[in-house]
Amino acid sequence: MSDHHDMPAKPLVARKGGALAGTVRVPGDKSISHRSLMFGALALGETRIEGLLTGEDVLRTADALRALGASIERLDDGTWRTRGRGVGGLAEPSRVLDMGNSGTAARLLMGLVSTHPFTSIFTGDASLVKRPMARVTVPLSKMGASFVLRSNGRLPGAVVGTNMPVPIEYRLPVASAQVKSAILLAGLNTPGRTTVIEAEPTRDHTERMLRHFGVDVREEVLEDGALAVSVTGEANLTARDLVVPSDPSSAAFPAVAALLCPGSEVRLPGVGTNTRRTGLYETLKEMGADIAFQDQREEAGEPVADLLVRATALKGVEVPPDRAPSMIDEYPILAMAAACATGPTVMRGIGELRVKESDRLAMVADGLVACGVKVEAGEDWMVVHGTGKPPKGGARIATALDHRIAMSFLVLGLATDEPVGVDDGSFIDTSFPGFVRLMNGLGAGIGEG
Ligand code: S3P
Repeated sequence: MSDHHDMPAKPLVARKGGALAGTVRVPGDKSISHRSLMFGALALGETRIEGLLTGEDVLRTADALRALGASIERLDDGTWRTRGRGVGGLAEPSRVLDMGNSGTAARLLMGLVSTHPFTSIFTGDASLVKRPMARVTVPLSKMGASFVLRSNGRLPGAVVGTNMPVPIEYRLPVASAQVKSAILLAGLNTPGRTTVIEAEPTRDHTERMLRHFGVDVREEVLEDGALAVSVTGEANLTARDLVVPSDPSSAAFPAVAALLCPGSEVRLPGVGTNTRRTGLYETLKEMGADIAFQDQREEAGEPVADLLVRATALKGVEVPPDRAPSMIDEYPILAMAAACATGPTVMRGIGELRVKESDRLAMVADGLVACGVKVEAGEDWMVVHGTGKPPKGGARIATALDHRIAMSFLVLGLATDEPVGVDDGSFIDTSFPGFVRLMNGLGAGIGEG
């Protein structure tokens, strides 16, 4: 596996060209891919996974699970096979678990090992070691695990798992599927019922997939409207085959590119349409976007559809703050669409963007300003003032090891008069390997430089 600590930067530049056209399959869903490997590693028996994302982040999860004793192989036909150890059956890793750029891998696996009676040491790249881990260590400590982290709850650090886990009921202080999942994964090996309460519903892949593996996951709407999700341990996972849908968060990049390049028509088959993930598409439709969800169907417990996107002149909108969890990774690409729309687009309740792979609120605001866009921003909000045509462009954007910042500004550069470059596109592989090739296959002009 390549190690980004030592990788040379890969500058990329996007130039305006003609319309984008064609049908392309974007890679598998990142959230579902991480969970596929983790649940396969916990199940007794053999799990086959089709469509797994082979981005760096997911490969880190595979590598860590192998260090914890699971067998995970990529077969010649491109499918993956896991042979699990059973819930509670993971073994102490004899090496440091390097989670690279991936917050999902780090937080979910910290949850998983916290109720195993051994010690694991976690680290990550220059981006991950800046991100907050207290959001998982606080609830996991209540379950009996202990942690030794750097100041402010940062990695590297050690998880000392407990052999006497206690179930908890925990109300999430921030809307986070990673925190919810970390607690539920810890709960699988904890006798009794572990409950997570979320005021705002976040992505529910953990819940759906655990059910697919035969675990009894309960959901209850509380009097105040919050959702209580619980698992009862010690649970058993039965190996089941999986099909990973295309990632709606990755499809967002060719979709918005098609909206912004006049005359475009792009088809994206088999994209996940779980409503806990599709806030961006809802917002784009409110902006007037011509996006159709065709042939809606279900594959291995997740709804999918073929997306048909045609270039459209967009208008600015106010995004409802309670939509944030269903489009949390899509604000950077939404901001690019907003920069080309007519009138202001108002985004509120987006403070979580500051603790993603980079401070995305600042990176987006600064990058758009450099491209000639008027932007106002505060601690947890941003307003992008579009003028009804693409901005000037002509900037090189700092990406701070953030794949989505890189892809977002490259998409913008396909519409601006002057090219838009990014200082380092190597991190795109964490979630969207083959991005440049796929976009250029549709007619985009993204190259090195
Ligand atoms: C993810 C949850 C989200 C999202 C991340 C993937 C997951 O993070 O940003 O890309 O797979 O559970 P938070 O839970 O921190 O919001």
